[in-house]
Amino acid sequence: MEGKKNQAPTILFIFGGSGDLTNRKLIPALYNLYLDNYLPEKFVIIGAGRTPFATDGEYRGKLFEGVKEFSSRKDDLDGKWQAFSSNIFYHLTDLTDDSSYQKIKDDITEKTKGWNEQPVIIFYLAVAPRLAQELARKLYEQKLCENPEHTRLVFEKPFGHDLQSARELDRILSSMFDEEQIFRIDHYLGKETVQNILAFRFANALFEPIWNNNYIDHVQITAAETVGVENRGGYYEQAGALRDMVQNHILQLLCMIAMEPPVSFDANEIRNKKVDVLRAIRKLEADQVHANTVRGQYAAGTMNGKNVQGYRQEKDVDPQSPVETFVAAKFFIDNWRWRNVPFYIRTGKMLQEKTTLITIQFKEAPSYSFPAEAADTWRPNRLVISIQPEMDIRIRFQAKRPGQEMILNPVDMVFSYAEAYEEREPEAYETLLEDVISGNQTLFMRADQVEAAWKIIEPILEAWQKRPPVDFPNYSPGSWGPEDAEELIAREGHHWVNLPPTVKK
Ligand code: BG6
Repeated sequence: MEGKKNQAPTILFIFGGSGDLTNRKLIPALYNLYLDNYLPEKFVIIGAGRTPFATDGEYRGKLFEGVKEFSSRKDDLDGKWQAFSSNIFYHLTDLTDDSSYQKIKDDITEKTKGWNEQPVIIFYLAVAPRLAQELARKLYEQKLCENPEHTRLVFEKPFGHDLQSARELDRILSSMFDEEQIFRIDHYLGKETVQNILAFRFANALFEPIWNNNYIDHVQITAAETVGVENRGGYYEQAGALRDMVQNHILQLLCMIAMEPPVSFDANEIRNKKVDVLRAIRKLEADQVHANTVRGQYAAGTMNGKNVQGYRQEKDVDPQSPVETFVAAKFFIDNWRWRNVPFYIRTGKMLQEKTTLITIQFKEAPSYSFPAEAADTWRPNRLVISIQPEMDIRIRFQAKRPGQEMILNPVDMVFSYAEAYEEREPEAYETLLEDVISGNQTLFMRADQVEAAWKIIEPILEAWQKRPPVDFPNYSPGSWGPEDAEELIAREGHHWVNLPPTVKK
């Protein structure tokens, strides 16, 4: 097919080929990569699963439905889908049967026949975590991943259920594969605005000198969702918001804000710098957990005029469930740069808005010489990075109001992606898949990062388990979570920052 020159011929084998992730995210992302000429010239996708399809054509038809429903570019686009999908095949398989693996090998050999070059083989494990681990073991035993330079494995989160299971998983994987073969996805890292944090911080001379505890009062990270657990009650009952969002996405955002400047853009260099942050985050002692964290669970109620059920009424959820759908916490990073700067985080489902925001709140100006009446609306500087759905960065500073009197007003200077660029922003999975294909691990979680993140979470999990919540459900759908979350940040005279409604489209 048409495609990027000088990229190694590649075969992408997706386990879970008839599943939701493939349909919603992977194929739409691959189609976009194809349309933008980012796939290798020789590129084949094999979806493997247990659902029978009569022909490859039928499978492609199902995937096209997914593209129409979930992709930003939905159409055949002058035969482009036709051309792209002629490289997609279906492989019916029962993975519990050892003989299946020989068939997978044969299929790969057949599809890559005539390529005259050793292909890169990517196994994407788009299946439940337990199955992914089992599959990885089979691929190893059946010798499908023997050449570490030419085979890669992609794992979706969660990577373990707690520190111990994460270590065990790592021990197993590292006994079979090289770390360079393992791509652990945290889809937040593929988001354009998240990657831009590195550009913002390290490609400008302006911000880095004030990016420390001399100038920054505190940092906030909010990842709010308006949806509930949808059809994932079974998974969520085992996870909860702390495992589902904080252990990975939120801590990764925190690392992007707090990391030291990397010496190069080498994948390991960047990941080293992030791991340093995770290691420096102060671990909460058992008796500090309750004062520094808040957990919540949504009740039944109404949202946008519609009745919604509470978490405990959701499908596959225990009617007495103690599982949290909201977390707020305060962390400190014990290093030179961040000593005594609180990092407040919050995340939850069924909240008022879908928004991911990072706020850097600067300290007050050291001296204030304006007349008292000028100061009524005076506010310290603030930088707000909107990750989604708005994609912008706004810096708040003081301006003089026009007129004969000296009255000050906070105003925003805004960089908006939509206004600054005409290009389409790639979806996170486009970026991440492109990186797997080209073998770039920068945006993927390394084993030690995963472990370091679990070490931060573990004391919270333990303390919460020892003291089950007595007030669940404790927040209404469409709110900003339990009142205690406001209280957590208000204690030090702060408040959570939301984008003003005028900003939103
Ligand atoms: C996933 C979580 O990792 O991230 C989901 O498992 C959550 O529960 C989702 O809804 C949020 O991702 P995004 O990109 O919509 O913010």
